Amino acid sequence: MSAAIAFDGVGKQYGDFHALHDVSFSVEQGDFFALLGPNGAGKTTLISILGGLTRASRGSARVMGHDVQQDYRAARRSVGIVPQELVFDPFFTVRETLEFQSGYFGIRNNDDWIDEILANLGLSEKANSNMRALSGGMKRRVMVAQALVHRPPVIVLDEPTAGVDVALRQTLWAFIRRLNADGHTIVLTTHYLEEAEELCNRIAMLKQGRLIALEDKHRLMNRGKARSLLLRLKPAELPPALQPLLQGRRDDAFELHLDDCATLERILSEIRQAGVELRDIEVAKPDLEDIFLDMMRSQPRTEQA
Ligand SMILES: Nc1ncnc2c1ncn2[C@@H]1O[C@H](COP(=O)(O)OP(=O)(O)O)[C@@H](O)[C@H]1O
Ligand SMILES: [Mg+2]
Repeated sequence: MSAAIAFDGVGKQYGDFHALHDVSFSVEQGDFFALLGPNGAGKTTLISILGGLTRASRGSARVMGHDVQQDYRAARRSVGIVPQELVFDPFFTVRETLEFQSGYFGIRNNDDWIDEILANLGLSEKANSNMRALSGGMKRRVMVAQALVHRPPVIVLDEPTAGVDVALRQTLWAFIRRLNADGHTIVLTTHYLEEAEELCNRIAMLKQGRLIALEDKHRLMNRGKARSLLLRLKPAELPPALQPLLQGRRDDAFELHLDDCATLERILSEIRQAGVELRDIEVAKPDLEDIFLDMMRSQPRTEQA
């Protein structure tokens, strides 16, 4: 079985500027994959290369085994891309926009599927509205619908929820989850890391055009700094035996390094023995955002080659 997406040594230069350096990774069929990275990391450039909108300066990209340059039509058919920017013809209605897109892929009589997409994205009532009359959130929904019109096995969403209301986010994710359960491969870029944490099973991180992480979500999250234990004590003095575990202070709480449950028992027994009152206790686990920020800080800054 070919990978849903495969990048092999992809580089992209704009003049002297390297937007992507030697990026290689693949996304397996059925994955719900997150592509993360700060603004300017190269996410949109990579997606444009995948959609054949931008040519890589080096390396190759494939969708469902089809090279995006040598086998453009098959590659293009295999992927639906929801672009970061809203692009549409203001004089078309929503339905016309989707029919036109179907025609682009040579698909006729697509009405049943179009109706289903419209219903799932909460767009049925807007089917006959002109694009220019829609709110930003509704236009965004049409961008998603447009990417799905040809039932692509691979669906790529480039920051689909940026600046979008909670209702759309929920509608969208419910639908995308269903498509993933039905076997579609999903690739998502987002600024909302809690979305990636909740939805995705694999994660890649880009920084300044380089791939700096590629991992199963749970493994990535376990790589983050270990758990810590927050303790509020009365009096607010840490027993000396616990000093080696001290990581820092958060407000009036002591933050201790917590490896495992045995350490927790030891901490509690030291507190009891010291005759200190335990006022509050909390275990803090790093979330994807902590790990992301950690990685963005810890990777050495690279010079532009
Ligand atoms: N057409 C272009 N010409 C010159 N520079 C570009 C062009 N498109 C993107 N870039 C630059 O490439 C880098 C990566 O951009 P982009 O892929 O949009 O990042 P991201 O989507 O991760 O925010 C940025 O520094 C951006 O300014
Ligand atoms: Mg972008």
